[in-house]
Amino acid sequence: MAESKLARLRRYYREGGAELVLQVACHHGYLPERMCHYSVSDLFRLRALDDRLLRRMRGDYLFSDATRADAEALSLLAWGNAPAKRVDYLAGLTEEQRIVRVTSGDALIGFLQLFRGEYDLSRDDYRSSRLRLVLEPEDVFLGYGFIDPAHRLKGIFPFLIRHAIQTSAPGSRFFTDIDRLNSGSRKAHLRLGFELAGSVRAWWTPAVATRWSLLAPDGGPPRRLGHGNPRVALATLLTA
Ligand SMILES: CC(C)(COP(=O)(O)OP(=O)(O)OC[C@H]1O[C@@H](n2cnc3c(N)ncnc32)[C@H](O)[C@@H]1OP(=O)(O)O)[C@@H](O)C(=O)NCCC(=O)NCCS
Repeated sequence: MAESKLARLRRYYREGGAELVLQVACHHGYLPERMCHYSVSDLFRLRALDDRLLRRMRGDYLFSDATRADAEALSLLAWGNAPAKRVDYLAGLTEEQRIVRVTSGDALIGFLQLFRGEYDLSRDDYRSSRLRLVLEPEDVFLGYGFIDPAHRLKGIFPFLIRHAIQTSAPGSRFFTDIDRLNSGSRKAHLRLGFELAGSVRAWWTPAVATRWSLLAPDGGPPRRLGHGNPRVALATLLTA
């Protein structure tokens, strides 16, 4: 039988106390977004790609750079709709940054965003706030990645990451951010050789701009990073 909401929240309380309960309640929409937001983004750096996962891919997939013409299909694939604002944003990314796409025959089945220079970390699809991360010249920040559910768990993601590495400048350092509650993505990255490098918390309540804080790895007091849409160097967030 499916676990009830209450039973799930009790389990989270036992695991991580009131903060985890709040995180889960916001993430799953048990608390409406207009009332509050509370999320933790874990930052990961790639230590070294574990190529044991690159022996085979179950299927015939190709990796190439997306262009403006792919923007609508990318939006439909990952979000199931294509509002003009998001399509424009994705079209811009294909030119100002990079999006690597995965195709199977004529079908677009996945993608990964790659950022240089700056990356906007957001846990609410940029609706109310974002934390602008300023990157070092050799840093590549891996933004949203998505594989069509019908093609997941076939080992595509490791090949997508390898393609991103092989087609980036030699000596690049790779980072990404994952919502702490996204255990599937966390697992997919950890087994590839990503390691936890820091954690950032965002929370807001009505009439209070989003407060961003850097969480201490030892559970000590968080360090304030700013309100609203602050700008910080990624290097200052790497606590581990
Ligand atoms: C994360 C994602 C890109 C992985 O793509 P993929 O091609 O399926 O990746 P892999 O085939 O390497 O499999 C991932 C591994 O992670 C784990 N994993 C992935 N999704 C999982 C899930 N929902 N629950 C538990 N484990 C999961 C599995 O251990 C799997 O390994 P296995 O084949 O040995 O069981 C894909 O699941 C996805 O698009 N998720 C939704 C969007 C998302 O969360 N993106 C990441 C945002 S940072």
